[in-house]
Amino acid sequence: MMADEGGHQKSPSPAVSPTKSPTGPKESPRRKTSGESPERAQLPPVGIFPADHWRDQEPQAADDDDADSTYDSDQSSTASITSTILNYRMLLGRRYHSETGNAKYWVSNDDKANESQDIVHHCLTLALGGKLHLAPLDKGRVQKAVDIGTGTGIWALDFADEFPAAEVTGTDISPIQPTWVPPNLKFELEDCTHDWTFDPESFDYIHMRWLLGSIADWTALFKQAYLSCKPGGWLESFETSSRFESDDGSVVETSALGQWGKIFEQGSKVFGRSFSVVDDGIQRKAMEEAGFVDIEEFNFKIPVGGWPKDEKQKQVGRFAQLSIEQDVEGYVLLMATTLGWARDEILVYIAHMKREVRSGKFHPYYRQKVVWGRKPN
Ligand SMILES: C[S@@+](CC[C@H](N)C(=O)[O-])C[C@H]1O[C@@H](n2cnc3c(N)ncnc32)[C@H](O)[C@@H]1O
Repeated sequence: MMADEGGHQKSPSPAVSPTKSPTGPKESPRRKTSGESPERAQLPPVGIFPADHWRDQEPQAADDDDADSTYDSDQSSTASITSTILNYRMLLGRRYHSETGNAKYWVSNDDKANESQDIVHHCLTLALGGKLHLAPLDKGRVQKAVDIGTGTGIWALDFADEFPAAEVTGTDISPIQPTWVPPNLKFELEDCTHDWTFDPESFDYIHMRWLLGSIADWTALFKQAYLSCKPGGWLESFETSSRFESDDGSVVETSALGQWGKIFEQGSKVFGRSFSVVDDGIQRKAMEEAGFVDIEEFNFKIPVGGWPKDEKQKQVGRFAQLSIEQDVEGYVLLMATTLGWARDEILVYIAHMKREVRSGKFHPYYRQKVVWGRKPN
């Protein structure tokens, strides 16, 4: 673990000394990540590179599917979710949830992307030592639990197995969950940014993971959770940063890994949903505003790649790398397209990023923040 149970972070041990990016821009001075050295502090921050920057770098193998785009970023609808659930949209050959009502979602929901999400679940659970929750749940007393934005439902499946006496519900805007599930688990289509349809004060535990980029108003979301939570029940919010960082300066801002967060930062301005939930401490603030008490948090880092010396971290890092290898495109395609990048530019950028991860010269990690709070009795 890179952090103890109290949330105190420890640095991942660097496997090799800091390196320079092999793919830095031709005309910019190379920079190290923020806070790494006094020399770095004097350099102005690097902005986001234009899409064609990556084409000018060393050529990379990139597949060139020539699927067309039917994406309209302004598309929205007030139609009910049930009437439009199968109204997917295709973007450059990848499947996305169509925008319905308030819902606007940026990761592909096709099989390739869903498999990547399942690998991420394994990776996050491994990093937490197999724990599915950090809120202090009393196993014998949890009667009803819900997982909001359940995705493929993999967390909910595991939770339902671990809490066989509890009735577990997973909700999402996309019907991408399995049909063969434990008898105590069901999935429902529900847009969590609308008023929730659950009975008031009905849940002992409400879980949400990786909803960054999906929520315009976190306080409003947690207020809905507050209404549906039993007095004494818990809300747990588990979020990720959208930036790759390093403690040894290996992830320079000019690298493809260093540019990743900037793509999301820029994209979020167009998209209207924050990707800096972790960096901005939004979970705790919104939980306090919604009325939860006894709020605690746990911060840790997910390494990407087999670079950590610690055996367990190495394993976590390999799964994180695998999730990227499985489908990095599904995470970045819509955002980069929103910024006006062409498909070939995106594919070249992805090739650079994968090469950096595989090279072992970069020691990236992304931050995770789990925050949990109790509804007062
Ligand atoms: C990154 S995935 C995480 C899935 C799951 N929580 C996990 O950690 O494995 C985010 C999920 O949130 C869902 N989502 C996005 N906006 C939503 C909304 N307004 N209401 C319900 N679910 C939403 C997406 O469809 C997607 O399945």
